[in-house]
Amino acid sequence: MNKNLQEIGTNIRPATDNLDAYIKEETEMTRTIKTASQGYLSESLDLVEKVFTDSEGIESGKLVRSLVEEIRSKRFYLPELELVMMDEENSVIGYAMFSRFHLEGKYENQLLLLSPVAVKTELQRQHISKDLIEAGFEKAKSLGYEAVIVEGNPQNYNSRGFETSAPFGIVAGTNINLPAVECLMVKELVAGALSHIKGIVDYSDYECLR
Ligand SMILES: CC(C)(COP(=O)(O)OP(=O)(O)OC[C@H]1O[C@@H](n2cnc3c(N)ncnc32)[C@H](O)[C@@H]1OP(=O)(O)O)[C@@H](O)C(=O)NCCC(=O)NCCS
Repeated sequence: MNKNLQEIGTNIRPATDNLDAYIKEETEMTRTIKTASQGYLSESLDLVEKVFTDSEGIESGKLVRSLVEEIRSKRFYLPELELVMMDEENSVIGYAMFSRFHLEGKYENQLLLLSPVAVKTELQRQHISKDLIEAGFEKAKSLGYEAVIVEGNPQNYNSRGFETSAPFGIVAGTNINLPAVECLMVKELVAGALSHIKGIVDYSDYECLR
């Protein structure tokens, strides 16, 4: 499948039995995936900070904002994989960043980190992150990446095909405080990739995570 990542319309089916209302709402709810670099760098940063402030507090909002700024400033940044979901008014309502990641200095051209992911608080649980993440997988595969690592709540990621990383030999370093081993997950983009990608996860490339 070769989706055009710059313009992927997604229609979210509203819960109504009235066909006229459905068609109207359906039209109004056309959403599009773009890259943040297409003019949304600042707006997406604000969205990320707001979403994490809402969910985890002011400090977390600031921290995740700093993380996005740091990723953008480093060699790990892949502008084509910093994705935003736009609503019909061209406002950013969702965000997902995939960036290069290495394990002990290896696999930087094969492995990606998915972080952060954020969806406008009022619009969560409408599969916005699902659509962003799956569009990211397609684009990442087309660019030759083989696997993606993510840290977070397995409930949000298992249904996207992420599995606990530890059985694959990808484990958190001692400076990472995981609530549970299942919170560090990986997904193969290319079958068999995880048979050779192994090592210790370390975020110390990022000052804000040290
Ligand atoms: C986590 C977050 C990115 C999920 O985005 P979303 O658009 O609301 O999620 P989706 O609707 O695409 O749902 C993704 C999956 O997670 C599940 N899910 C979503 N929110 C959930 C919740 N609160 N509790 C349990 N499961 C949940 C859904 O069931 C869905 O699985 P499915 O495909 O089998 O239906 C979003 O809620 C968010 O921005 N939260 C605040 C910031 C955050 O925590 N970011 C992630 C850091 S790990």
